Amino acid sequence: MNIGIVGTGYVGLVTGVCLSAIGHTVYCVDNDREKLKTLRKGIATIYEPGLQELMTKQIKKKKLFFCETIKEASKKSLVIFIAVGTPSKKNGDADLTYVENVARQIALSMDSYKLIVEKSTVPAATGRRIENTIKVNLPKKFKERGHNVPFDVASNPEFLREGSAIADFMNPDRVVIGVESKKAEELLKEIYKPLKTRIVVTNITSAEIIKHASNSFLATKISFANALSQICDKVGADILKVTEGMGYDKRIGPSFLNAGIGFGGSCFPKDVDAFIRLSEKSGYDFNLLKAVRLTNEEQKAAFVRLIEDKLWIIKGKKIGVLGLAFKPNTDDMRNAPSVDIITRLQAEGAKIKAYDPQAMDQAKKIFKGMTFCQNVYAVAKDSDCLVVLTEWDEFRQVDFKRLKNVMRQPMIFDGRNLYKNDHLDDLGFEYFGIGRGVV
Ligand code: UDX
Ligand code: UDX
Repeated sequence: MNIGIVGTGYVGLVTGVCLSAIGHTVYCVDNDREKLKTLRKGIATIYEPGLQELMTKQIKKKKLFFCETIKEASKKSLVIFIAVGTPSKKNGDADLTYVENVARQIALSMDSYKLIVEKSTVPAATGRRIENTIKVNLPKKFKERGHNVPFDVASNPEFLREGSAIADFMNPDRVVIGVESKKAEELLKEIYKPLKTRIVVTNITSAEIIKHASNSFLATKISFANALSQICDKVGADILKVTEGMGYDKRIGPSFLNAGIGFGGSCFPKDVDAFIRLSEKSGYDFNLLKAVRLTNEEQKAAFVRLIEDKLWIIKGKKIGVLGLAFKPNTDDMRNAPSVDIITRLQAEGAKIKAYDPQAMDQAKKIFKGMTFCQNVYAVAKDSDCLVVLTEWDEFRQVDFKRLKNVMRQPMIFDGRNLYKNDHLDDLGFEYFGIGRGVV
């Protein structure tokens, strides 16, 4: 099937490459000229393990194309996925300006039946607004033919985790499709048939809610674990054992119970905000989710307080930071906890040195007055302490003896419990994890 993808970011590019890999012919488009130029040279514009290789393969097989305009991509496609950004507004609402703009452009170039699919995470009832935008902007000839307009709208939310997005696409727990017509249902079932996975069919609004609810529930699990970690530190319990003991209960499950410095990324913070706002506007005060958000903010503040408490004077101290991206295996810095934490430490006069295996280019656009190093040991050299903010595998294979020798003092604050099993105390470090009950 010929498929269009509008928006080639972390969601759109992965979706387009993977849809072509399961047999479809995919036409991607993006309004960022620089990004499009790079993509047309066959170069992936984001870091995602395996993406560049798969993209190169699909371009070679003539199953993946990058078009100049929405009109071009739309004319070549039967189904068009909208995967443009839905950033948060100041009040927490999702900004749907881009989504509306794309819907309008698809309508204006409509020359035959199209299925327009929401891939971007959007608040409930957005599907109806997209439908209306298209109706209003259809070329005259369709309006003259009366109300049987040549399109359907559907919702098909993504559940891709950055760093494992291709695997998540190819082995989904489920595909969710929100449809209002049999034709739309059949087209989407055909698209995902090669994946041989469970397909949840519902209406558009329910599909939109499934996405927000899933991300919000995962964020709730994380905040619950983080709240527990604060209690563990105060009562002398070990969060790792607590969450291990909880996780064997099939009703709870072990995943997304890792306490740390909180959730970041372009999804959880934005989707929690948007879901709270959507609920408020629908007449429900989502206090539970507000507490999840507050707990996430408090977790970062508690980590900074721990550093202040143990390092004593922050002003003038050299703090070495390992990891900047919001999670490992990505270069994505959006809402990374490192931004808040480093900003607070710099405000207190700390001198920050940092290294991240993938996110340095993105980080250089965000942080000012920071020294960017090329490896762990350069960060550790003459530092008064090390602070782990992203649990990259690369940081697991360090020579602790060498680390200790180059540091001004052997003190480590582990925001992701990366070194939970390395017994750093026995190696002469002052080690502080999250929720290990040793504070
Ligand atoms: C983001 C959120 O992460 C995701 O939760 C939401 O569902 C969609 O928005 P992501 O792919 O991460 O998805 O966003 P981003 O990396 O910003 O990519 C959006 C792309 O759309 C960008 O490449 C941008 O240039 C492009 N775009 C934006 C258009 O092509 N047209 C527009 O009008 C606006
Ligand atoms: C998330 C959802 O998992 C995915 O289904 C959705 O499509 C997009 O949003 P992503 O944001 O890419 O994916 O990464 P994820 O692995 O979910 O981590 C999100 C944040 O939570 C990261 O900052 C991570 O460090 C944090 N996290 C995750 C924890 O703090 N503890 C955990 O146990 C898991």
